[in-house]
Amino acid sequence: MKHRLLFLGPPGAGKGTQAQLLASTHGLLHLSTGDLLRAEVAAGSPLGQEAEAVMARGELVSDALVLAIVRQRLQGQAEGGGWLLDGFPRNLPQAEALAALLAELGQPIELVVLLELDDAVLIQRLLSRGRADDNEDVIRHRLEVYREQTAPLIHYYREQGLLKPVEAHGTVEQIGARITALLE
Ligand code: AP5
Repeated sequence: MKHRLLFLGPPGAGKGTQAQLLASTHGLLHLSTGDLLRAEVAAGSPLGQEAEAVMARGELVSDALVLAIVRQRLQGQAEGGGWLLDGFPRNLPQAEALAALLAELGQPIELVVLLELDDAVLIQRLLSRGRADDNEDVIRHRLEVYREQTAPLIHYYREQGLLKPVEAHGTVEQIGARITALLE
């Protein structure tokens, strides 16, 4: 079965790590807006130039820009092909725009996986990674942005009966097994 999944959770919870694994074992399109934006920055495209400073500050890139990227990728996905959205949507306007797009494509979300982890562990994981936006001040700001803008989506998807929380402590394999169990 081709799943249609969304991964939600704070920075450093392991969304990207788990999404990549699940997408490869289940043959899903892994759509990470963070990765796509970083590729634009690396390519020096006009879109990347617009996004670079915003990302370095740990703020959200404009909804219009992110939506254009997601729309193009989802429309390009073969009908009936599964997908996994990682790092998108990030706020209510993005969630509403996604709902409209998926209604248009006739591809409703099947499940929203919420990865839950304490701030102390998140910060430790991100500091040991050392990406351009992984210094302590920017990490704290990303966590604030998550709480203010993204966490309201927990309620939004819970109300729709789509949300499944997953304990994101432990090894990559342990967390992967918890997520896979939700799909069975
Ligand atoms: P994005 O790339 O989405 O970053 P993020 O949400 O801050 O998430 P991270 O990639 O930091 O964490 P993750 O949960 O994916 O964890 P990961 O698996 O990497 O966004 C970056 C920026 O892009 C945003 O700030 C914004 O500016 C912009 N952006 C992106 N999407 C946007 C949108 N929709 N709208 C507007 N702007 C947008 O793991 C983290 C680390 O922990 C890794 O080193 C990993 O190896 C390690 N790790 C993972 N699992 C474990 C484990 N079980 N045990 C130990 N270590 C682990």
